[in-house]
Amino acid sequence: MTVSTTVSQTALLVELEPVVARNLDRHLSLAKEWFPHEYVPWSEGRTFDGPLGGEAWSPTDSTIPDVARTALIVNLLTEDNLPSYHHEIATLFGRDGAWGTWVHRWTAEEGRHGVAIRDYLTVTRAVDPVALERARMTHMSEGYTNAHGDEVLHSLAYVSFQELATRISHRNTGKATGDPACEALLARVAADENLHMVFYRNLLAAAFELAPSQAMRAVADVVADFQMPGNGIEGFARKSVAIALAGIYDLRQHRDEVLQPVLRQWDVFNVTGLDADGQAAQEQLAAQLDTLDRAASRFEEKRDARAARLAR
Ligand SMILES: [Fe+2]
Ligand SMILES: [Fe+2]
Repeated sequence: MTVSTTVSQTALLVELEPVVARNLDRHLSLAKEWFPHEYVPWSEGRTFDGPLGGEAWSPTDSTIPDVARTALIVNLLTEDNLPSYHHEIATLFGRDGAWGTWVHRWTAEEGRHGVAIRDYLTVTRAVDPVALERARMTHMSEGYTNAHGDEVLHSLAYVSFQELATRISHRNTGKATGDPACEALLARVAADENLHMVFYRNLLAAAFELAPSQAMRAVADVVADFQMPGNGIEGFARKSVAIALAGIYDLRQHRDEVLQPVLRQWDVFNVTGLDADGQAAQEQLAAQLDTLDRAASRFEEKRDARAARLAR
């Protein structure tokens, strides 16, 4: 058994900075510039009621299915909370050096997502703009707090999974709308989320080299209590059930398409040189994946039974 030596949070930030710098260069060379306005069908737009005296929103203004509207609202409100996310990562990673450059660049890219989705929803009248604005006010007034706010590796593990989760959820929401324009927009957003995931995943891979037991502990803890970033949205539980029933984001996808691919990249079950807590974390992680597998299967059975019932 390896003797436990803990690397301090400050030392982790310092040691990882060259990895941040390398991955920032990689990111900038791969990220494609794109423009939100090109993805919005402006000619479909009509003036709303209010000061300009246009037409009030009606649910019949759009043919997008209800569940896709719900998912679009959840995804947009999630993006809207960017000031809180920026605060969390700027506080933890700092605003200097390569870390700081990344924090600002990432924030600028994420800012595009909310702008693009809101423009699309407003112009196409896909959702009630009054309800959406009220939901944004409520959600942003709550803010967002990182569950592991003062731990670098926990936060890196969380964002690795979270970026991939948002990628999958944007992608599948786009498909669920049945609108090629919306699908193209959300595919574009999803491509950004994928690059974000790769950035964070590479950082944590380096952390596994640097402090394997601490990295394993971080991953196990984060997988055990993972919550979507939008989980503070009003009515989130009800909305996320609808989203899961529609297959836009469910437990099976969470386990098999979000957790597993990232864990495989880190090769978590072949990491050696762990101290006692690192080994315990590795075992907890394996047990948690089994638990999620069973829970995902139960959900799928229930969903199938429900679909069969509705088809009768
Ligand atoms: Fe985003
Ligand atoms: Fe992202």
